[in-house]
Amino acid sequence: MKMKLRIATLFALLLTAAPVTVSAQREATPVDTLALTPPMGWNSWNQFEWEVSDSLIREIADAMVANGMRDAGYRYIIIDDYWVGGRDTKNRLFPDPVRFPNGMKALADYVHGKGLKLGIYSDAAELTCAGVTGSLGFEEIDAQTFADWGIDYLKYDYCHAPTDRTTAFTRYKKMGDALKATGKPIVYAICEWGGRSPWLWARAARGHLWRTTYDSRDGWRSGDGFLTGIMDIFDTQEGLEPYAGPGGWNDPDLLMVGLYGKGKSSSPDERFKGCTDEEYKTHFALWCMLAAPLIVNNDLRDMSDFTRELLTNRHLIAVDQDSLGRQGYTFMRSGDLQYLRKELKDGVAICVFNRSDAPASFVFDPVRDADILYPATVTNAWTGRVSKKAAVRGTLPAHGCEVYIYRRK
Ligand code: GLA
Repeated sequence: MKMKLRIATLFALLLTAAPVTVSAQREATPVDTLALTPPMGWNSWNQFEWEVSDSLIREIADAMVANGMRDAGYRYIIIDDYWVGGRDTKNRLFPDPVRFPNGMKALADYVHGKGLKLGIYSDAAELTCAGVTGSLGFEEIDAQTFADWGIDYLKYDYCHAPTDRTTAFTRYKKMGDALKATGKPIVYAICEWGGRSPWLWARAARGHLWRTTYDSRDGWRSGDGFLTGIMDIFDTQEGLEPYAGPGGWNDPDLLMVGLYGKGKSSSPDERFKGCTDEEYKTHFALWCMLAAPLIVNNDLRDMSDFTRELLTNRHLIAVDQDSLGRQGYTFMRSGDLQYLRKELKDGVAICVFNRSDAPASFVFDPVRDADILYPATVTNAWTGRVSKKAAVRGTLPAHGCEVYIYRRK
């Protein structure tokens, strides 16, 4: 069962990578030190949509501190679409005055006072996806406005914009340059949904992360269209691993953990009524193996112990945030079992994932199956149990997974 990258995948990879040396893209010196590991935080989108407000963001910041997520590494609180009120007489954006009566600067001050950072959203066109004012033609003034408010992160969307790659690059670079010109450390999240292979050019546009897919939804699989289940997204990440690394990350979209189908975007569609706890565990573990940005979007004010413990699992967060910055990849398959491997600074993380709708048993020998020759310890990411016995075996529930962290010392 020893199997490596399929030839077709490798061929596709070489084709898509043609304009850029693959390893050069990952190993290029980061333009700055803002995202040396994948950004972690919270975003308002799936759960709240148009209900973003000053009071909500303050309550989310309070909750992120109280529930231990800040101390686990989550930092950015990102206000997605629907916050804009319009432009004033000097063409400066202002927030919706009813929902953000204190203005953005006061809100940023509050969030900073909690040891957290504030993110905001705009679009590389005249309108955002929700139809409020976007930034096209006002990039410099908007970047400066965000900087003046103390904004730390910009998610920049691509609704209502031309579909070609050249225009996308030009528009994203314009905002990237404008953010850079403010002299403020603002993480730049490119969100054109992967259609124009942003992994090839997003760093050149000064991006720190770039969406690789359409919007994720709170369901295991959808199989079609713009609304995308967790497995649909996961399967499209294969082959993108050469492009991720310190300073720039593939972004397979938000974590659905803890939504349980309550999110607004999910609710109208029968396929997106939420996942089981086992599926949320696998979702979180796979995103950590992918070195994905860990950006949740559930209601942090109302979380079960299960959700909180999963989102603060320190073993998995350490895998995601490992300073080597490698994205994991599938190195072996056996029936419905899929094995992923992520290189770590002082070891290797292995994820054994059962894709099947029925339980499945497995045996994994690190020497035989993955050439991991001298592991000193192996840690089970779910139980935290550390052992010196390298080979592992077990039974995985349907859609379940185990993650083993092999450390050299
Ligand atoms: C697009 C983005 C989403 C979200 C919405 C907001 O669909 O991909 O992540 O930001 O717009 O309208």
